[in-house]
Amino acid sequence: MELIVKNGTVATAADVYRADVGVAGGRVVAIGESLAPTNGTRVIDAAGRYVLPGGVDTHTHLDMPFGGTVTADDWASGTLAAACGGTTAIVDFCIPAKGQSLADALGIWHAKAAGKAAIDYGFHSVIVEMPDAIYEELPGLPGHGVTSFKLFMAYKGALMSDDWTLVRALKQAKAAGALVMVHAENGDAVYLLQNELIAAGRTAPKYHATSRPPRVEAEATARAIALAETIGAPLYVVHVSCGEALEEIERARARGVRVLAETCTQYLYFTEADLDRPDFEGAKWVFTPPLRPPHNRDLLWRALANGALQAVTSDQCSFNFKGQKELGRDDFTKIPNGGPGIEERLTMVYQGVNERKITLNRFVELVATGPARIFGLYPRKGTIAVGSDADLVVWNPEAEATITNGQLHHRVDYSLYEGMKVRGRPETVTLRGEVIVEGGRFVGAPGRGQFQPRAAFGG
Ligand code: URP
Ligand code: ZN
Ligand code: ZN
Repeated sequence: MELIVKNGTVATAADVYRADVGVAGGRVVAIGESLAPTNGTRVIDAAGRYVLPGGVDTHTHLDMPFGGTVTADDWASGTLAAACGGTTAIVDFCIPAKGQSLADALGIWHAKAAGKAAIDYGFHSVIVEMPDAIYEELPGLPGHGVTSFKLFMAYKGALMSDDWTLVRALKQAKAAGALVMVHAENGDAVYLLQNELIAAGRTAPKYHATSRPPRVEAEATARAIALAETIGAPLYVVHVSCGEALEEIERARARGVRVLAETCTQYLYFTEADLDRPDFEGAKWVFTPPLRPPHNRDLLWRALANGALQAVTSDQCSFNFKGQKELGRDDFTKIPNGGPGIEERLTMVYQGVNERKITLNRFVELVATGPARIFGLYPRKGTIAVGSDADLVVWNPEAEATITNGQLHHRVDYSLYEGMKVRGRPETVTLRGEVIVEGGRFVGAPGRGQFQPRAAFGG
């Protein structure tokens, strides 16, 4: 064996037990008591630590043009930051330019990632319009390892797609074994409210929330579900932010609709009040859907605990405060939507274990196993089992830290979590058996990440 992680407590979505983990050829080859090293075996002592599967973040936007600018983090900085936070695989959104084929867009996203990615990766194909050429292209995408299609029901005039596009995507996804994901907000209603607010001189960041009330999210969630139900296709709802949308999801599930959903770390910590921070600082918290009244945080934690939500992703979409968020100083609709969080995700969700909001198994399920399973990466990713990729995180549950942007590895000038005290940190991270983070320091290399073709949606 090339590597043995010894004396740790292995935690998966199902179990917590003391065992050594042996690695050869980039995979887990043995899990057991007192595994014996041979000549040349590297041994990592994980006494007093958990050994977790590497995090899987299935909602990231790296090197993405958006809101009149481009995300601050590219595939080098974004994946390096992810690794330092304990994430070993991401699935990023590949967005075609107007009139571009999905295959050409995938070629561009492959080029963005190649030579830069420090962890493994895949792509979701974004569908904005549905001319016949795109419709006919969809069945071929699983052959390229892309088994999820993403549609935005908001961002009118930019990424927003109409219901015709959505029903056709659902139909093709069903036939191809792919999963349709939706950003669920009624983009027309948002557009109307935005125009009214700006005309009334309400230009500050806090009006971002006013322009996108919970009902706008709930309406689109219910509509997407109804259309998926009509077609008989499964559906995945991204970044659920509020109780109103959750209600629609739970109601649909109760009548037998196959609907899966995630929330993102930031909705578990912040509220609409953060949008009103002084000196335009609220712009840092401008992401979509917007932050909500405080009771929604409890609803989301509860939904994570009871299974109503299946994943926590980062929705990493970083823009610098200086020069990028500032584009909207006089008009909140011009603030690029999105925030950083790819590195903080595991640590911040783990605080829910400390606070007994979720169990350790549920934590692993939400940040690794669930997203891997839903998006066709499991059991290669998302668990620790013989035959799985040796993507391992040695997690120190007692390590304490205060989050400061200077210690993070992303390439953006703030962290949403600045100054927060946390307990529980990733110490060592392996990617297919190769140590890429040691003592919290990145020791991997850009370009070591590999594209991961994903299996069909398994239900
Ligand atoms: O504000 C956000 N969430 N930006 C990224 C794009 C999206 O809607 O996911
Ligand atoms: Zn979105
Ligand atoms: Zn997103």
